[in-house]
Amino acid sequence: MMSNIRGLTFDDVMLVPGYNGIRSRQDVTTNVTVAGRTFEIPMISANMDTVTGETMANAMTDFGGMAILHRFMSIEENVAMFKRLKHPKKTGISIGIGEEALPRAEALISAGAEIICVDVAHGHSKEVNRTIRQLREKWGQHIMIIAGNVATYAGADYLSAAGADVIKVGIGPGSVCSTRIKTGFGVPQLTALQECRKVDRCIIADGGIKSPGDAVKALAAGADFIMLGGMLAGTDETPGEFMTRKNSDGSETKLKRFRGMASREAQEDFMGGMAEWKTAEGVAVEVLAKGPVKNVILDVMGGIRSGLTYCGALNIKQLQRKAQFMEITPAGFHEGTPHASGRLTK
Ligand code: IMP
Repeated sequence: MMSNIRGLTFDDVMLVPGYNGIRSRQDVTTNVTVAGRTFEIPMISANMDTVTGETMANAMTDFGGMAILHRFMSIEENVAMFKRLKHPKKTGISIGIGEEALPRAEALISAGAEIICVDVAHGHSKEVNRTIRQLREKWGQHIMIIAGNVATYAGADYLSAAGADVIKVGIGPGSVCSTRIKTGFGVPQLTALQECRKVDRCIIADGGIKSPGDAVKALAAGADFIMLGGMLAGTDETPGEFMTRKNSDGSETKLKRFRGMASREAQEDFMGGMAEWKTAEGVAVEVLAKGPVKNVILDVMGGIRSGLTYCGALNIKQLQRKAQFMEITPAGFHEGTPHASGRLTK
């Protein structure tokens, strides 16, 4: 059976400019409040082992965003890392749904964690429901629960009914994700966000954001937060060492590893190898060194502030109310990318 919803993603649409009565883009606000907690910027660093350890968490929360630590370490290491954080109340922990999920939650909540992320590749599932209910039963409203990932209204509604405060949206859009190629499943991310926003919960746009413009489109489509993996990969604050590769002309390139958590490489590192009944649903890459993450955060936030004024919106809620998307053609997309002939200097 074919769904009558046409799936669109960021590059399929453009936001149509609206009247702007705001004097300066410095006058807009980008705050977002969820479950009684306010974040100055609507940005979250992804819980991937090559993106968010303590250094990234500290940098992201210094700017007023949220960070979610990855969980690919022992519970003891996780607790020790959590205790070293500068802003523990703005940093989430990730627990999954396995045997270790509740003991990990217990240890970290005792250490002061309040934001708990229960995310698996296919979040519209009984096990995720069970884990959310167990967390709620034990810790009530003291904790904020993020759950995912889903990409449909039914999935978001299911997690919201289970008790999640925040729904994480994205099946297959990630920059190191091969879920759609390997399984045929997924929903183009803009449509996924528009569907999931229909539930009365905060939503996180997770995956596929490759530019500040995509971030604005995600927020305009209904996301309260954007989660970034690939855009932050290769910055100084990500875990892992830089590598230097010699080029054929003698010059050197500085690189860092970035990988999907369902890649063969990550599964070999953390699950003792890839079981024969499974296939990798992620890839591993070497990305160029990007310098301090501050540059990426400022670039994205600059785009969001400017985007708000193109819409004539003082804040993200207004952007969501006023935003008008136009579906575009490949020629329209091409027109919108810098295309002057000549050598690019900066
Ligand atoms: P990005 O910002 O486009 O790089 O997307 C980051 C998101 O990709 C993460 O937050 C996860 O939801 C998702 N992701 C991470 N690893 C994998 C994987 O191995 N397969 C599929 N999705 C992944």
